[in-house]
Amino acid sequence: MQKYDLFNGKVDSLLHGADYNPDQWLHRPDILKKDIELMKKANTNVMSVGIFSWAALEPEEGKYNFEWLDQVIDKLYENGINVILATPSGARPDWLAAKYPEVLRVNADRSKNLFGERHNHCYTSPVYREKIAELNKKLAERYGKHPGVIMWHVSNEYGGECHCDLCQADFRSWLKAKYGDLESLNQAWWSNFWSHTYTDWENIESPAPQGMQSNHGLALDWKRFVTEQTIDFYKNEIESLREITPEIPITTNLMYRYDGLDYNKFAEEVDVISWDSYPSWHSDHESDSNRAADVAFMHDYFRSLKNGKSFLLMESTPSKTNWQPVAKLKRPGIHKLSSLQAVAHGSDSVQYFQWRKSRGGFEKFHGAVVDHVGHSKTRVFRDVQDLGAVLKKLDQIRGTSVEAEVAVIFDTENRWAINEASGPRQDKKNYVETCVKHYQPFWKKGISVDVIDQTKDFSKYKLIVAPMLYMLKEGTADRLKEFVKNGGRVVSTYWSGIVNETDLCFEGGFPGQLKELFGIWSEELDVLYDGDSNEVQFKKENQLNLEGKYQAEIFCDLIHPQGAEILAEYKSDFYAGRAALTVNNYSRGKAYYVASRNEEEFVDEFYYKLIDDLELNRVLDIELPSGVTAQKRSDGQKEYIFLMNFSDQKQKLDLKNNYQSLISGQKLSEIGLAAYGVDVLIKA
Ligand code: GLA
Ligand code: ZN
Repeated sequence: MQKYDLFNGKVDSLLHGADYNPDQWLHRPDILKKDIELMKKANTNVMSVGIFSWAALEPEEGKYNFEWLDQVIDKLYENGINVILATPSGARPDWLAAKYPEVLRVNADRSKNLFGERHNHCYTSPVYREKIAELNKKLAERYGKHPGVIMWHVSNEYGGECHCDLCQADFRSWLKAKYGDLESLNQAWWSNFWSHTYTDWENIESPAPQGMQSNHGLALDWKRFVTEQTIDFYKNEIESLREITPEIPITTNLMYRYDGLDYNKFAEEVDVISWDSYPSWHSDHESDSNRAADVAFMHDYFRSLKNGKSFLLMESTPSKTNWQPVAKLKRPGIHKLSSLQAVAHGSDSVQYFQWRKSRGGFEKFHGAVVDHVGHSKTRVFRDVQDLGAVLKKLDQIRGTSVEAEVAVIFDTENRWAINEASGPRQDKKNYVETCVKHYQPFWKKGISVDVIDQTKDFSKYKLIVAPMLYMLKEGTADRLKEFVKNGGRVVSTYWSGIVNETDLCFEGGFPGQLKELFGIWSEELDVLYDGDSNEVQFKKENQLNLEGKYQAEIFCDLIHPQGAEILAEYKSDFYAGRAALTVNNYSRGKAYYVASRNEEEFVDEFYYKLIDDLELNRVLDIELPSGVTAQKRSDGQKEYIFLMNFSDQKQKLDLKNNYQSLISGQKLSEIGLAAYGVDVLIKA
């Protein structure tokens, strides 16, 4: 158990605030004044400032204007509001793009972008790097000692890629450093296939729709390069920040399910993880409780990026977005519930995009704390204000940790490889969704889970769940075996142990180096059409004591047990009677192989058994009704229990112990949760 301090002693509360873009309102001093009044009223204590302010900070090349920002930061500080200060590299001023066209991005099809949009810059361009470094240095010198500045918000949602000549040249150097000679590269990429053998480094180009699309080794290396190049750009951005303000922590805001970057690599370079969460509640194709489990998975993923250190919810919407296909309003209760959900999983903040709605521009209809009406008498404002009041009661939770006995492996490079692969079906590979599906049973039972990369330490867990572990990195199989030898349990599924890190298939049968651990050989993989299904039936007197028949769809792996015991088998088609679920007793542990993609009930029942078997810690030792979950943070002494009802029904729970609500102060041993209700309890 650890207590984290994200701000080096500068902050002793949970943070509550928003992206604040006063540079849109410099012509309206009345608005800027009103903002401060409303921020206090809304119970906020932090604002992220300057995220897209390059044009306001440097209106002409080399001519800076910081006066407006001086005043904004001073005013916020005088009024008890902290500042997370941004570097503005996410968008650039027109003069920069006009004078130095190299800063603009080149797309995969080699078309050159014009000025416009954001995230439209080359990460290699020496000019872009130099210009942003100059500005960042000035920001650090001017504001680094300001007592109100508690953190650097570097850029905004780094993403995308550039295929310009500068990037191609750097990519080739990166490849040279990795492979040394072309022969090794050609071998690693299997490039003699279709006569794609490279005979000159200069002939290598990044993937393109009109060029190379079929070399998966190249595609993976390109993605790795993009991550490293983006990190290199970030390092250039923070050089002066580290030098001038070593005591101010640095973050950059990460995105939901974004697959353009390997965030595990980024995590090593930032002090604090922060991310932006915009779930679409109340959708027409998914229950709020499934949606909540998906968001929970992401929170756990972001927390696990820095091995459990608390993180920040950097952005969320106080009402709705302007970019979802249908952006429904949050129903009463959801705002508080989804905000506290972040805190339950380890966030030390709830922050929004944005503070005040813009009058114009692309996001003028995006939800904000202050609406175009301009006053506080709105439902959204009251929701924010109420949440702020609740967060004040929860300040003691800041920095506490989440302890998990289970880890789900969700690995970015594996995800890239799965998505790049041609076949066995082109769609519905659904790696992320599958990981979430295997996470969900734990969420339903109120069990904490870490979501980790395959390179992380396994030893602290009792159970590792590794769905679709298609790419095995060097050493992963050995570390999994070691884990199971020491008594751990591991679950994997169809389409595991297929390729190495450059996407070369393992020889000697699948699942590659995992064959021995799972005691099986996968000879063939059948895929089904949408709507088709097979059935999986538990065998009589199987060691899990499970029974019944369940639907299997999309993927059906045809495996031969080689030491493993069959727990369930297929019911139809030419492979009826063959193994669909196996367990292998391996030294002191067990390895389960789930051969098919099964319906949710199967997945739930299977893991519920393992949960019981392993006596995994539940946050509350009671049965939770559908849609309700419990999560826990702790400082080693006090435990903070978050009870969350993601259903639109009232729920009553007998807690079987005495608790006190930190929100209402009430002592209770049973609790009535309203529809979308939430409470935070400590033992009484
Ligand atoms: C992202 C960006 C913000 C804003 C929001 C809108 O998270 O970081 O600047 O555009 O989306 O939802
Ligand atoms: Zn470029």
